[in-house]
Amino acid sequence: MSSTTSQPAANQNETAELRVGVIGLGFAGTTHLDAFTALPGARVVALAGQEPARLAELGETRQVESLYADWEELVARDDLDIVSIGVPNYLHHPIAVAALTGGKHVFCEKPLATDGDLAAEMVAAARDNDRVLEVAYNHRRRADVQWLRSHLDSAPFGSIYHARASWMRRAGVPGMGSWFTNQALAGGGPLIDLGSHVLDIALYLMDEPRVTSVSAVAYGELGRAGRGGGRRLLGSVADHHPFEVEDFASALLRLDNGGSLRLEASWASYSKAFEDIEVELLGATGGARLHVDNYSTKDTLTLYSDVEGAPTVARPDVQVPGGHHRSVIQEFLAAVAAGADRPAGEPRYAGHHGEYSLHRSRVLDAVYQSAAENREVPVA
Ligand SMILES: NC(=O)c1ccc[n+]([C@@H]2O[C@H](COP(=O)([O-])OP(=O)(O)OC[C@H]3O[C@@H](n4cnc5c(N)ncnc54)[C@H](O)[C@@H]3O)[C@@H](O)[C@H]2O)c1
Repeated sequence: MSSTTSQPAANQNETAELRVGVIGLGFAGTTHLDAFTALPGARVVALAGQEPARLAELGETRQVESLYADWEELVARDDLDIVSIGVPNYLHHPIAVAALTGGKHVFCEKPLATDGDLAAEMVAAARDNDRVLEVAYNHRRRADVQWLRSHLDSAPFGSIYHARASWMRRAGVPGMGSWFTNQALAGGGPLIDLGSHVLDIALYLMDEPRVTSVSAVAYGELGRAGRGGGRRLLGSVADHHPFEVEDFASALLRLDNGGSLRLEASWASYSKAFEDIEVELLGATGGARLHVDNYSTKDTLTLYSDVEGAPTVARPDVQVPGGHHRSVIQEFLAAVAAGADRPAGEPRYAGHHGEYSLHRSRVLDAVYQSAAENREVPVA
């Protein structure tokens, strides 16, 4: 392992090629590796993961200099600018805190952490060390979501008083018995896994209202019975955990602007959905529906308005080419490269220290608490 500098390179020359270490070899880690490799201004020099054959294959095909089994060895290097985290949820916190306090910028998969208190420690570590902490909310970078965001900037709907956001699967538990279905390792089921994405999209499109309270229910009927399993990229990780999390959750969220949001997520449900993402906005003078049916890449947007008093429907022609991880990583690299020129404070849609993601973690905590205690609970 090389160790040539005592401080990450970006401290000395913010415009130099950024040296990246990626942790994780599954869908997330591989996607991070390929995105950082494809983008200018960054080079992946270290990779870690616990599947030796895949580690060797990715190291060779992507020409990564240093390969590690354990994240600790990678994070201990003092010549990395960036650590990219694509591992089970419970490892996000220890890896991010170690990397941030060691002076690295961090790109972390969603959810930020398994609960809001751990997420808060990560955000504090980013602030205290003035490092960028960005979270992989890649779906908000979809071309249709971006189109709708730009459309909303000209305020065509008046105030948005209610939204529905859901990600429903018919049979898609991501690895029955894997870390995904273990409460301590994952922090929850489809709500924290898929619901976090559609919550992010809805809050982003609604101009970042704060969620004040939550009333929720959660069930695990199919998962606990061993039904609804789906595919995973990696098959080599020991899968032996009992199904401890929900397979379906539904919540009504109250917002500080008087609005509301219904959030639903399922890994498995006897419903029409195969893989169905939906975000619907109801505004005072118009509305919109984003509907992504089994990762469809066109005809995903519908707009509703009145023209001369008559209900009118429009379908903007927006192609969705994919590559959303790449665009969020591109934004992350720009924030890192900006160094001291980075805009101060919390920008409208992205917290350089992960602040906006912390609120999402607090909301998810409140959903789980509400479902467990069978009552409406405030968001911390
Ligand atoms: N944003 C998205 O679209 C998206 C999609 C899939 C997964 N994710 C997120 O990415 C993360 C990983 O999901 P996945 O599906 O890739 O998981 P996975 O189980 O397929 O892969 C996890 C990887 O972490 C590695 N790992 C585990 N312990 C380690 C350790 N101690 N040191 C080094 N490496 C270690 C494993 O070896 C494996 O390579 C999760 O947080 C998940 O929520 C996000």
